[in-house]
Amino acid sequence: MDWKSCNVLVTGGASFIGSTLVDALLNRGARIRVVDDLSSGKLENIANHVMHQRVDLMKRDLRDPGVAEEAVKGIDVVFHLAADHGGRGYVDLHQAACASNLMLDGVVFRACQKAQVEKVVYASSGCVYPNYIQTDPDQMLYLTEDMVGPPYDADNMYGWAKLMAEMTLRAYAREYGMKTASCRYFTVYGPRGVENHAVIAMIARAFVKQDPFVVWGTGEQIRNWTYIDDIVNGTILAAEKIDDGTAVNLGTKERIRVIDAAKEILRYMGHDARIEPHPEMPTGPYNRVADNSLARRLLGWEPKVMFMDGLHRTIDWYVSAREKEQVASTLEAMLTER
Ligand SMILES: NC(=O)c1ccc[n+]([C@@H]2O[C@H](COP(=O)([O-])OP(=O)(O)OC[C@H]3O[C@@H](n4cnc5c(N)ncnc54)[C@H](O)[C@@H]3O)[C@@H](O)[C@H]2O)c1
Repeated sequence: MDWKSCNVLVTGGASFIGSTLVDALLNRGARIRVVDDLSSGKLENIANHVMHQRVDLMKRDLRDPGVAEEAVKGIDVVFHLAADHGGRGYVDLHQAACASNLMLDGVVFRACQKAQVEKVVYASSGCVYPNYIQTDPDQMLYLTEDMVGPPYDADNMYGWAKLMAEMTLRAYAREYGMKTASCRYFTVYGPRGVENHAVIAMIARAFVKQDPFVVWGTGEQIRNWTYIDDIVNGTILAAEKIDDGTAVNLGTKERIRVIDAAKEILRYMGHDARIEPHPEMPTGPYNRVADNSLARRLLGWEPKVMFMDGLHRTIDWYVSAREKEQVASTLEAMLTER
């Protein structure tokens, strides 16, 4: 794909992942429009590009009449990342809000089809996988794409909406000939990440010197946190190489226990605190790790950043970018909000 001759729309382009994708696409020479209502995205993530007219920003809600149609006009490739989404606290406690993604995704996909957009790439999630197979942290489970179901048991309304969007895009590929791809992101972390996701939340707790140091869940739960640059590279490769609506995992195979991530954060940040697990708080599945052989095969993708390296880079960024007082005053709310 020749990005230099491409008009690209990134929905949700002011977000953590969206804005990093915008940076990478600009580096490849694409012309970019962003539509974002800034409900959780931050203008500062793309402000420099907007100011220098490298990005055309529409600050609009895609669910409002006519906005999606206007946004896709003249566009060749759409990366659809806009979503009502937050971290574990948010997706567990805000089911109705996350259900609005069913409508948001439907409106965007329909507008793409009507405008004959060449390619639509969708930001899906590990939350499409059935909860009931992810319960035992001692099991060496690697989620392959076919394990999604049936029977289906997605993770909250957030996960169901992601699953429905994937299925919709596959149907559009089959029945309307629209080229589509879905990327199942697994717990993304890195610079510009926000405190409603576990890694940044733990860094923030250490940053404000929390003691006892609270960990949600028993700490035994396993994740495969995947670094932002790897996610963005995989997403662009999916745009280049998948046409038929296939959904592909973008995630590392590193199995990291939350408690071990917490200990490393405390060590690296020099904060000697007592860790206090809170199993009653929103925790998510106890064993969520991707298999990534399909991404290797279809995209030639493999994650490049090991967790310890990415974690240290993320901490260094966080400490340089944030103010203690500001973090302390917003942290509790951020854990369950967007
Ligand atoms: N962060 C992760 O670990 C992760 C994992 C799996 C999937 N995802 C998906 O990746 C995408 C980006 O997530 P993120 O973590 O970077 O941040 P995010 O959740 O803040 O991104 C969503 C973006 O969409 C915008 N938005 C929301 N509703 C909108 C609307 N109606 N109209 C216009 N814009 C709207 C927000 O302002 C924000 O910029 C989301 O689709 C999310 O579901 C993220």
